[in-house]
Amino acid sequence: MVNEVSSGLTHPPTRETSVRRVVCPGSFDPVTNGHIDIIERASRLFDAVVVAVLINKSKRGLFPIEERLEMLREVTEVYGNVTIEAFHGLLVDFCRERDIPAMVKGLRAVSDFDYELQMAQMNHRLAGVETLFVATNPLYSFLSSSLVKEVATYGGDVSGLVPPPVLDRLAKRLAEQ
Ligand code: PNS
Repeated sequence: MVNEVSSGLTHPPTRETSVRRVVCPGSFDPVTNGHIDIIERASRLFDAVVVAVLINKSKRGLFPIEERLEMLREVTEVYGNVTIEAFHGLLVDFCRERDIPAMVKGLRAVSDFDYELQMAQMNHRLAGVETLFVATNPLYSFLSSSLVKEVATYGGDVSGLVPPPVLDRLAKRLAEQ
């Protein structure tokens, strides 16, 4: 007989629904073209994509959460099946409350892998939530929100790395600092 330990299943499979939904989580401070690439590809694979923006009370970002949500809404409107929400606490609780069985994450390089694997295994252990990894478009494999902020802070050109509305807001925000 297959028991919980031998099967490795600590949670019953999530209820099947006819609508296939997935979460794309992150800090999105701000959203980059690398994020958009993953969200767009997820939106083609799933019926509905929920972008979940982490509210991290211990880390002050460049953009307030509301502005991150606004930028994400503006640049994902075109896909038609993407919604944007903020969350705090555990990502698996966010997924569980909405009955969403999986999340999609981009893998840029081997350096992303160790921590992503650890989180994927923990999230599966906690709630049976699956993590699906999508290989980042090589055009964006060097790209991160932190690098965009650093380069833009010192006057470097980040056009082509973030969507145009984000570029505008980035310039405004940095001018206010
Ligand atoms: O864009 P980021 O900052 O790399 O995204 C990281 C994020 C938000 C996906 C990750 O930090 C997360 O899931 N945080 C929520 C808290 C949580 O569930 N922690 C346990 C992870 S196993």
